Amino acid sequence: MTITISFQKSPKIKADTAIVAVYSDNRLSRSAEDINKKTGGVISHALKTQSVFSGKKGQTTIVTAPQDFEYERFVLFGLGDAGDLEATDCEETGGKIFLTLKCAGVEKAVLFADDNNKLKKVDAPELAAHVAMGIKLRSYKFDKYKAKDQDDSGSEFSRLEVAGDEASAARKFYDVLGSAAEGVFFARDLVNEPPNKLYPESFAEIIKTELKPLGVEVEIFDEKKMQKLGFHSHWEVGKGSANLPRVVVMRWKGSGKKKFEPMAFVGKGITFDTGGINLKPAAGIADMKLDMGGAAAVVGLMKTLALRKAKSDVVGIVGLAENTPSHNAYRPSDVIQTMAGKTVEVLNTDAEGRLVLCDSLTYIQRKYKPKFVVDLATLTGAMMVALGTEYCGTFVNDDDLWNAMDMASKKSNEKLWRMPLDKAYRKEMDGTISDLKNLGGRYGGACTAAGFLQNFIEDDRPWAHMDIAGTAWVHADTPLCPKPATGFGVRALDRLVAAYSE
Ligand code: BES
Ligand code: ZN
Ligand code: ZN
Repeated sequence: MTITISFQKSPKIKADTAIVAVYSDNRLSRSAEDINKKTGGVISHALKTQSVFSGKKGQTTIVTAPQDFEYERFVLFGLGDAGDLEATDCEETGGKIFLTLKCAGVEKAVLFADDNNKLKKVDAPELAAHVAMGIKLRSYKFDKYKAKDQDDSGSEFSRLEVAGDEASAARKFYDVLGSAAEGVFFARDLVNEPPNKLYPESFAEIIKTELKPLGVEVEIFDEKKMQKLGFHSHWEVGKGSANLPRVVVMRWKGSGKKKFEPMAFVGKGITFDTGGINLKPAAGIADMKLDMGGAAAVVGLMKTLALRKAKSDVVGIVGLAENTPSHNAYRPSDVIQTMAGKTVEVLNTDAEGRLVLCDSLTYIQRKYKPKFVVDLATLTGAMMVALGTEYCGTFVNDDDLWNAMDMASKKSNEKLWRMPLDKAYRKEMDGTISDLKNLGGRYGGACTAAGFLQNFIEDDRPWAHMDIAGTAWVHADTPLCPKPATGFGVRALDRLVAAYSE
């Protein structure tokens, strides 16, 4: 069940729980103080009789309300000294509040948004909106393949109201955040979906079913159309599978201008990466359903833009294929064609992502002449080795684009780290009997992969490549996301689009 969130000056719903803030050393916020007075000091008494909760940033605790009071309980959350609070802290606190609500079996809650003059880095309505966003993001569930629990009473947290004088300003912030949350959930759903259900053809259909009604134009290229348009390299990667490749192009025309001059986003969509003839070892191979995380982020972004009716022009393209060994699969040492005309010697069929992306990059640039292109791909294990799961390595050929991405990253709680593009990495990908090869040397695998892609950027177009291999997926729950799929990229790209055009 998804949570419905509303905003009111004073609470309109019948809720079982009130959520209120507390500062360092258990100084009560105005709404906590109100409740404390109305209950004859229940909150201050409860806080005095324990020593664990002290109002530190991110702490939460539950206080039971007196009998016959309008709420059954109060959930207190710590804001610390408030002066150094950032939007990202508020979201993580929201995530913790959600877990506390879940533990207490809460169904409906009111979050009191105080007028708060101690805040310096966020203002009070923004704080409330980000706390609500944290609650929403952490509430995500993927349980469609689980049997319903017989003992399950059906009670689940489903309703949040943000109340206070600041509520209408908070709603404005949340309108933008909430659309991003829906895009993130869509991306997580797609990545969590198993590969026997999500393969190129079904993925393409899901995109159409979900995005068309929202006003996104969706075009699907099947076998014939892909051949005709020249997606040769992409085709080679997927031709060995019973589930044949697809390309999906999505257009959001929100600027109102006659001429479509979009920003472009490209996603790697390998619905399962066995490695192909260079078969992967058993350990970790089951994770390879995540190899369409880039495509999921692009699709999630398009949903977000449509939901918030972004006043921008954006085109998204996802290259979908399954990388599987068979009698018909491409082999190591094959020389293949790309749409751009360059030939590639395949030295490892497991380095397939770049062979799919290169054709989509060429197509989108030639067809739409975009302002800039950003591609997202779970491209290399080397990226995970370099930066782990916290930061997404980002290769950018243009400082202005990087600066915009850096800002978008800070606004969205999705961390990006700039990585080097260099002639030397590119040179490592030069071919022996062909123009290029798909495998570099032993070291710097994320950088040589980016170097390979750079060969397909035309006219010095501003371009960024985000290797999300480490960030698309978590092996343990995080403050804002239950494992495994994260939906990484949707939020940062949404802020990037906003920064460029709105
Ligand atoms: N999909 C993988 C990269 C990957 C690995 C993503 C782990 C997420 C987690 C990619 O197609 C791949 O297999 N890359 C190879 C490249 C190598 C053969 C040059 C790799 O990283 O080992
Ligand atoms: Zn691979
Ligand atoms: Zn892959």
